[in-house]
Amino acid sequence: MTVEEVKKSPCAFPEPFKTGKGPRVLFNEMPIMIDLNRPRRSVLYMPGSKERALEKAKTLSADALILDLEDAVAPDEKVKARDLVCAAVRDGGYGARELVIRINGLDTEWGQDDLVAASAVAPHAILIPKVDSAEMLLSIENVMNASGAPVETLIWAMMETPLGMLNAAEIAAATPRLGCFILGTNDLVKDLNAEHTPAREPIVTALGLCMLAAKAHGLAIVDGVYNAFKDEEGLRTSCVQGRAMGFDGKTLIHPAQIDVCNSVFSPDEAALDLARRQVEAFAEATAKGEGVAVVDGKIVENLHVETANRLLAKAEAIRKMEAS
Ligand code: COA
Ligand code: MG
Repeated sequence: MTVEEVKKSPCAFPEPFKTGKGPRVLFNEMPIMIDLNRPRRSVLYMPGSKERALEKAKTLSADALILDLEDAVAPDEKVKARDLVCAAVRDGGYGARELVIRINGLDTEWGQDDLVAASAVAPHAILIPKVDSAEMLLSIENVMNASGAPVETLIWAMMETPLGMLNAAEIAAATPRLGCFILGTNDLVKDLNAEHTPAREPIVTALGLCMLAAKAHGLAIVDGVYNAFKDEEGLRTSCVQGRAMGFDGKTLIHPAQIDVCNSVFSPDEAALDLARRQVEAFAEATAKGEGVAVVDGKIVENLHVETANRLLAKAEAIRKMEAS
């Protein structure tokens, strides 16, 4: 289907698909709010065919779970995994964890049935593999609308192909239902015929294109996996790099990776203390009619206060989640 055909179909969204900043508006006027403060520090992939893992996840401290029907599941187990994952989402018991179903691509024999089944059980999001165009998301959205997916069920997009990277801006702007980019760095490295290096130079441009697109359109964005799941120091370095680039968190393949990830992507006490002092100092400066304050020998302007408040809000959201 072309974009024009999708737009004309009864369940498509009218122009403009995006309203820019602030609450996004659906065709039926129900606002979709992407909660960018929601913790997405640790996003764990779980093979959807493994009952034991699905059960175990209820006790793990991951902020979000990707119940996988795609690469972690062998072809013979695809249908069983779909049934198990849909039953798990329907039955719940996962507390405050965000529940995301990753479906198979629509070009496979399972994709369409996965999408219809996932839409019916209303997870927080449905993750679409190998997204490389806006048209693809609009077709997905049409099927979700027709399958009764509630407005609360968002689309998350796997960004993992060279074409997807080049089209990141149009993909990010495709629909108000899109909530998050998940980087698929293994597929990307494979398609580029590149190599995994500690500093990730071969894919930094691609990560940057996705980062720009996500931030420009108010999406969450989560980094790719670290394959050596027993190498804690390597994982920490990768998390620190991802945090510095602006990622909200990292996707994980093993429960042993959760704690490092939660710790690196949580604001630490020193950063929170500085943020509080910046907010206070700026308020005092403003009260005296000044536009700038100085804290620890560094200038504090409006924009620094915005960053400080964002950090404090993030810490509060983490505190609430961990207390629930
Ligand atoms: N989610 C939830 N639980 C998991 C898990 C995961 N991703 N990976 C392992 N576990 C559980 C195991 O079921 C086991 O539970 P148990 O103690 O109740 O038996 C426990 O954690 C320890 O597992 P371990 O023996 O260390 O791992 P393994 O050798 O069985 O499996 C992997 C290692 C990498 C195969 C496995 O972690 C995995 O399948 N990860 C997900 C891969 C994936 O989703 N890939 C697609 C996206 S990149
Ligand atoms: Mg992939």
